[in-house]
Amino acid sequence: MALLEVNNLHTYFATKRGLVKAVRGISFSVEEGRTLGIVGESGSGKSQTAMSILQLFESNQRIYDGSITFDGEVISDFGEEKLRKIRGNDISMIFQEPMTSLNPVFTVEQQINEVLMLHQSLSKEDASKKSLAMLESVKISNASKVLKSYPHQLSGGMSQRVMIAMALACNPRLLIADEPTTALDVIIQAEILNLMNDLKHDLNTSILFITHDLGVISQMADDVIVMHGGKIVEAAPIREIFKNAKHPYTKRLLAAFLKTDINSSKNEKQVQEDLFSSENEIYDFRMFRETNKADEDWFKVGDNHFVACTLK
Ligand SMILES: Nc1ncnc2c1ncn2[C@@H]1O[C@H](COP(=O)(O)OP(=O)(O)O)[C@@H](O)[C@H]1O
Ligand SMILES: [Mg+2]
Repeated sequence: MALLEVNNLHTYFATKRGLVKAVRGISFSVEEGRTLGIVGESGSGKSQTAMSILQLFESNQRIYDGSITFDGEVISDFGEEKLRKIRGNDISMIFQEPMTSLNPVFTVEQQINEVLMLHQSLSKEDASKKSLAMLESVKISNASKVLKSYPHQLSGGMSQRVMIAMALACNPRLLIADEPTTALDVIIQAEILNLMNDLKHDLNTSILFITHDLGVISQMADDVIVMHGGKIVEAAPIREIFKNAKHPYTKRLLAAFLKTDINSSKNEKQVQEDLFSSENEIYDFRMFRETNKADEDWFKVGDNHFVACTLK
């Protein structure tokens, strides 16, 4: 069984103008020690998928259908108290804006200590020792000085290292990283991505890595799901997505990333028209059906490679 299994998840907001369906029936799993990437444009439902796992919800938001299982337990049924025990302990998260996640009135030491004292019942002294070790593990060279600093005294890259240290302090089995390097310049971004890969290698943490950036996902993920309009349109091992993307939306994303014209090849255009009708957003799998078994919603194009047949 996978470490995390998300099955037919629907997460909606109740608003004055009706239900906003942020996540519309998605299923995926994250295996032990592997990194699953979620990629898609802004507004495709990536962050709401992440928030659903720990139910970090606004008051008008909830899971309307589906289930989330972590290490064999159905955590989508958990109440606040049980969820609090998991958050930051078994599953931790890092976000795009480290500054908004760090508390401005406490030092780095106080903040990492708090996590350790809460979840691991360490004494203050032991927590401080571990906090220092954690900062060193995320390659902060002047760690003892940074420990005594307040968030506003840190650069963006340094803050994100602190966030990673804090997220890993309790040896989580799953780390959810939502656009963790988007706010950083490219050189710092590359350093942080290398750091995360090293840590994953050392700690064998499973990672759910969310980004709109295909370049980033190519460095981080073993497998990837592509989201569009709250749904998954394609799921595949990372190489398959780059070499053999099938869904028109995935192809559009890749083309934008590679800055090539997807219509430049006539054959490509022909295939696209054959399979996808943008009017009714249906991926026509009839031609596959004759030779393969395809269910109503999904078509299997290769090992662990699936394409959605409809976006409805
Ligand atoms: N506070 C909110 N109230 C209502 N709808 C929201 C709210 N936040 C997000 N949404 C809806 O959820 C969709 C998915 O948002 P999100 O998961 O943040 O996208 P992504 O992370 O892929 O950019 C948005 O397009 C929007 O329609
Ligand atoms: Mg987001």
